[in-house]
Amino acid sequence: MPEHVPSRRDFLARAVSAAALGASGTAELSLVSAFATSRPARAGAAGLIPYGSAVRAGALESDASYRAAIIGNCEMIVAEGEMKWGDIRPTRGEYRFEKADAIIDFARQNRIEVRGHTLAWYGGLPAWTEDISSPAEAERELVDHIRTVVSRYRGVIPSWDVVNEPLVDVPQDATSLRPCVWTRQLGAAYLPIALRTTAAVDPDARLVVNEYDIEFKGARFAAKRKALLQLLRSLREKDVPLHGVGLQAHLFADRAIDRDGLQQFLLQIAELKLDVLVTELDVVDYELPGKISARDALVAEKAREFLLAVSEVVRPKAILTWGLSDRYTWVPIYFKRPDGMPNRPLPLDAELKRKPLFDVIDEFRSKA
Ligand code: G3I
Repeated sequence: MPEHVPSRRDFLARAVSAAALGASGTAELSLVSAFATSRPARAGAAGLIPYGSAVRAGALESDASYRAAIIGNCEMIVAEGEMKWGDIRPTRGEYRFEKADAIIDFARQNRIEVRGHTLAWYGGLPAWTEDISSPAEAERELVDHIRTVVSRYRGVIPSWDVVNEPLVDVPQDATSLRPCVWTRQLGAAYLPIALRTTAAVDPDARLVVNEYDIEFKGARFAAKRKALLQLLRSLREKDVPLHGVGLQAHLFADRAIDRDGLQQFLLQIAELKLDVLVTELDVVDYELPGKISARDALVAEKAREFLLAVSEVVRPKAILTWGLSDRYTWVPIYFKRPDGMPNRPLPLDAELKRKPLFDVIDEFRSKA
């Protein structure tokens, strides 16, 4: 990753263009901190696949041991929610970057790379987007948002999940897009609009379409792979800028990995000359036995099954888990354990002790 330290002229030009694009920059200081960030050099050290994690700005601020664990273990981080529309655009016309900037500042201070998540998604949208009532208005809001956010972090965030989860859970084909304000107003055009706008603002950024349920055995998962492949191919054929596919990899301990299906998919992705990233790995454990040692072993084994299938075919550009420690995980929001025990989906436990899952990740970082 080339070191990029913006000059003062560079900084001023960007500050001016960001302001012109409508960034309210709620505090000038935070604008300065974001643009003064240099691209870190830690990622990919020693030829290993970079490892990273989703982080929470609030926890980074309030929890020193968590912060130390992120610094000690991650070469890359991604905001779990702070760069989503809901956080950045709480009301129409207002851009708030305090929490996103705090993550960027933390990353800069510790020479950690940041991935961007996410620009065009059906989820995490603030209520006011429901009032968007015409295609022109939808395009204006989407483009303005992407210009403002991506220009603010140009040269700082080298890789963006531009489009997140475009497909329904059981798609017929690439036209089975998830209903949301973007599809309602713009149809399938929202994807090229989002990708082209991102590329225009930051031509060096790697643009990713990020999706889940790609790896399992079963008809609906095969349908998802087929539809996603069709979608990516059609973007390619239209010369839409696109560099990679993100396999979220929210694995379920009781779901089998479809090794052949996944590998066929990845080979076709390689033919399209797209990067593969593992973007949100974790293992949902709500149906696993309560006994901790048995549970942790099964979680690690599931991740091994997945990473082995991937690494036999491609070398992922990064492996990120959706959180580092069981102390902070989305899993209980949807998948609380029936026995009331805490979930254990991540590489460190709630006391920040390493679990077998971390050994598996380390093994594949050097293997692939
Ligand atoms: O911050 C409030 C807190 O004050 C309140 O007490 C609590 C009550 O439920 O809610 C807290 O906010 C929740 C937040 O997670 C906490 O981190 C939100 O309600 C909840 O909607 C939010 O969920 C996030 C979800 O995306 C929706 O944006 C999850 O943290 C986040 O892990 C999840 O991430 C997604 C990826 O973006 C895309 N792939 C799937 C992945 C997991 O669902």
